[in-house]
Amino acid sequence: MPSLLSADFANLQSAIESVPSSDAVHVDVMDNHFVPNLTLGLPMVESLRKITSAMLDVHLMIENPDRWAPAYAEAGVESVTFHVEAAAAPVRLARELRNRGARAAMALKPATPIEPYEDLLPELDMVLIMTVEPGFGGQKFLDLCLPKIARARAMIDKHGGDIWLQIDGGVSVDTIERCAAAGVDSFVAGSSVFAAENPDAMVTQLRKLAEKATNT
Ligand code: DX5
Ligand code: ZN
Repeated sequence: MPSLLSADFANLQSAIESVPSSDAVHVDVMDNHFVPNLTLGLPMVESLRKITSAMLDVHLMIENPDRWAPAYAEAGVESVTFHVEAAAAPVRLARELRNRGARAAMALKPATPIEPYEDLLPELDMVLIMTVEPGFGGQKFLDLCLPKIARARAMIDKHGGDIWLQIDGGVSVDTIERCAAAGVDSFVAGSSVFAAENPDAMVTQLRKLAEKATNT
């Protein structure tokens, strides 16, 4: 799914309309505290909700998601991702998100291990493994995340249930295949999609490469 972070912020509606083939649209919320960058917040997400029926996948890179995340679920987005490093009570937060009708997703920065959170999996609909340090688009994919991706896949398979495994950061035609082979089934791509001459064709190309790598 395309990340709007690499789109023209003055024309987000046309950015969304430029990628009709995508399964969802990824919206990066940054507060200049959890990450050293500032993007957009709840009013903008509420406006996006009004102008599109696309699945909205909100990625909160903010401090105190316990306080702020539930309002995004109330705004009617389909998926809300909080960073576990910032959450005081991730179980309670995941339940609050689900109670408000959203998918609950937990994100891990590159240096955060998955193992301590294995018992949380039944509370979650998605795990996001960051493949760059969060904060900016256009960074280089961190190959050191691949073993964690494989371990997360094994953990999810062991528990069963329909939990998506997402990656975000540096996803491109050069990196997507090895991630799909390691067990990723949801891909966020910002710069590679919106820097492409034809963003929608890039979405289709990336999906094909991922499918080929997993033979699905
Ligand atoms: C980075 C954001 C990403 C970003 C990815 O912290 O969470 O969603 O848009 O950008 P690329 O695909 O350019 O690495
Ligand atoms: Zn993101």
